[in-house]
Amino acid sequence: MMLKLAQIGRRFGETWILKDLNLQVGEGECVALLGPSGCGKSTALRLIAGLDQPDQGEVFIAGESQSRIPAHRRRIGMVFQSYALFPHLSVRRNLTLGLQIRGATALDQQQRVNQILEVVRLSDQAERRPAQLSGGQRQRVALARALLRDPLVYLLDEPMSNLDAQLRDDLRPDLRRLILGGPQPVVYVTHDQQEAMALADRIAVLRDGRIEQIGTPQQLYNTPQTSFVAQFIGRPTMNLLKPDSTEVVGIRPEHLQFDSAGLPCRLLNREWHGASQHLLLDSSRGQLRMVCAGDTPIGESSAISWDPKLEHRFDASSGQRLNRD
Ligand SMILES: Nc1ncnc2c1ncn2[C@@H]1O[C@H](COP(=O)(O)OP(=O)(O)OP(=O)(O)O)[C@@H](O)[C@H]1O
Ligand SMILES: [Mg+2]
Repeated sequence: MMLKLAQIGRRFGETWILKDLNLQVGEGECVALLGPSGCGKSTALRLIAGLDQPDQGEVFIAGESQSRIPAHRRRIGMVFQSYALFPHLSVRRNLTLGLQIRGATALDQQQRVNQILEVVRLSDQAERRPAQLSGGQRQRVALARALLRDPLVYLLDEPMSNLDAQLRDDLRPDLRRLILGGPQPVVYVTHDQQEAMALADRIAVLRDGRIEQIGTPQQLYNTPQTSFVAQFIGRPTMNLLKPDSTEVVGIRPEHLQFDSAGLPCRLLNREWHGASQHLLLDSSRGQLRMVCAGDTPIGESSAISWDPKLEHRFDASSGQRLNRD
């Protein structure tokens, strides 16, 4: 079972908002589409789901072209940021609706919905309407609905971005257990690089409708191929220093260390995060972000250094990586 996007593209007027997208997602694999707002992430999902038609290329599911298959016949489980539940229907009715449309018997509907409610831990909320649930509970109803479709592919479009940090932490194990743990390929859209790093087997960084780099979270963090990817992956953001007009040197905030023989710095700002602290320093080479242990004493002025082996070098005009790794 596999999802394949072959040279997919979409344009509005003269502008291609998605171009030459090639991607294969294997059995049980989760690929995150990561990128800034407007880069084409939702468009890509809509093309896979058949909710929109490509102007270029083809989508294959388990080897079968989807070009002539309408959205309602594609075996896809989709979860949206906005939940997309019917507000006037109970949780139970929201879930039985799809089964009813697909022709399940009343008894079968009841059994399968009861079973899925147990799986998403909502059995005692079945008669409530969406407005009477918390955001996390609503999103679990949306997950249940996707599960009930028994799909070949899961598509998730920012499923947790409406939830606060605590609820996201609560929902992540459910996502892993119910969706990421299964044999279906998963495409997970997010603009949150931490979420992509935590959940995905591979990440595709999208920029202006094209894949800038695709790889494991470790590959993107350790060897970003462009300065755009370098700044998109890892928080706080990688420092970029201009050594001359042709080159930019990148160094991660967690790779800076205090060193009395190093570059003199002045403290501009400090955020304490418990186990770590994030510093903003001013130096003759510009402002630098630094991460150090939470219990490190910080003075108004200090000096820092870093191991040159940890430097990332990029071409100043093209942004392409110059290191020979
Ligand atoms: N029907 C349309 N007509 C014209 N332009 C459109 C249409 N739908 C989307 N776009 C444009 O296509 C681009 C990509 O939109 P898309 O919704 O895929 O972005 P996204 O990456 O999902 O962004 P976000 O993170 O904000 O959800 C945007 O610039 C958007 O304005
Ligand atoms: Mg979107």
